[in-house]
Amino acid sequence: MRYECDACSDILEVAHDLDRLKTARDGSSWRRLFDERVGIRSGIHRSGVWRYHELILPDLPAGSIVTRPEGNTNLYRSPRLEEESGTSEVHIKHEGENPTLSFKDRGMSAGVSFARHLGVRLVACASTGDTSAAIAAYAAQVDGMRGVVVLPKGKISMEQLSQPIASGCLTVALAADFDTCIRLLRDVCRRRPLYLLNSVNPVRIEGQKSIAYETVQQLDWVPPDWIVVPVGNAGNISAIGKGLFDLHALGLIDHVPRLLGAQAEAAAPLAQAHREGYRERVRVKATDTVATAIRIGDPVSYDKAVGVVRRSAGAFISSSEQEIMDAKALVDATGVYICPNSATAVAGFLKARDQGIIGAGDRVVIVATAHGCKFSQATIDYHEGRLTGVRPRRANEVIELQANAAAIERLLASVDGSEARKDGR
Ligand code: F0G
Repeated sequence: MRYECDACSDILEVAHDLDRLKTARDGSSWRRLFDERVGIRSGIHRSGVWRYHELILPDLPAGSIVTRPEGNTNLYRSPRLEEESGTSEVHIKHEGENPTLSFKDRGMSAGVSFARHLGVRLVACASTGDTSAAIAAYAAQVDGMRGVVVLPKGKISMEQLSQPIASGCLTVALAADFDTCIRLLRDVCRRRPLYLLNSVNPVRIEGQKSIAYETVQQLDWVPPDWIVVPVGNAGNISAIGKGLFDLHALGLIDHVPRLLGAQAEAAAPLAQAHREGYRERVRVKATDTVATAIRIGDPVSYDKAVGVVRRSAGAFISSSEQEIMDAKALVDATGVYICPNSATAVAGFLKARDQGIIGAGDRVVIVATAHGCKFSQATIDYHEGRLTGVRPRRANEVIELQANAAAIERLLASVDGSEARKDGR
């Protein structure tokens, strides 16, 4: 149960034996192997994580694996975003379609599988909501294992809070922010036999890498020019970067996409560091934001994230609350329902496109990290004009009527009239 290096106290990272993997197969042979597994209906290879078992945790026996199965999420082409931004190809990788409705299931499948392999009984995390939902659901699948979650009180959505409670997790709320929750839990884990499953745990990162694998596989192994990711604790962008560099080293892809890390202005240490040329490590005190899951001022995977973003010739960017919620409404209205954290990536993309960081001819994938249904209050508040400091530019209000058919018909007639005027009829 170790997460940090004794010598430098930096967090550990899994290093694969790339030479062995290269000798085993060349790039096209790896691609063929993974393509053969798509659509399989049973066994671990039907999971969008364990389809790539050899590149995730090759030595973990299949019998230890705990899988729902996760992954296999849709990659939606977004004509609306292409049109809005004047970009030739934009896709949304909707990780909200995972079993607990966020991307965290991928890393957690790896983390809980490894915990089971080690014979661990208690697994723990601090969380802004989604990691706790995932640990709870995966721990609940293993006999004799229990999850412990530490949450910032009042800072996560009701839907997220309901998840660990429902799965029987030991659920602890602290009157503190996420940065404090994780600091305290890391401290407790040094003294107690708790297996920490935050993204400081390098095994989690290995599972999370599969977002990158699955995305490029869905694009027939032709990687996009950019992958845009919302950034909080910075585990996900580090994982996606690591996965892409591994694929490149093994000859599965011919270039590594540039990575754009998107933050909310209320919690944007990495965007600030980028602006300042990464002169020194930036820590901020996060303030309130609609993007509550990325309300983090001192990301644990800061160095890993800066490393992969710089190596990919990428960037970090930040957006305001208004930009985030408008971006969310824009995508939501296309029938792809995303959360405010995911919308931060959409807003970051639109801004990067505006500033010419991303070009008109670029192919772009935006990672939506959780489902809109996990954050329904933010959606409703926006459309009802109840979010402080945010104008409901794309509002779609609920219309309350008297309970009779005539009232509904009058409304429909007026809607029909205004639609007709819009069409010039
Ligand atoms: N989007 C969502 C929906 C998240 O829940 C998180 C992180 C992120 C983006 C950012 O990912 O931390 O790897 O940079 N949620 C964590 C949690 C912190 O506890 O659920 P990251």
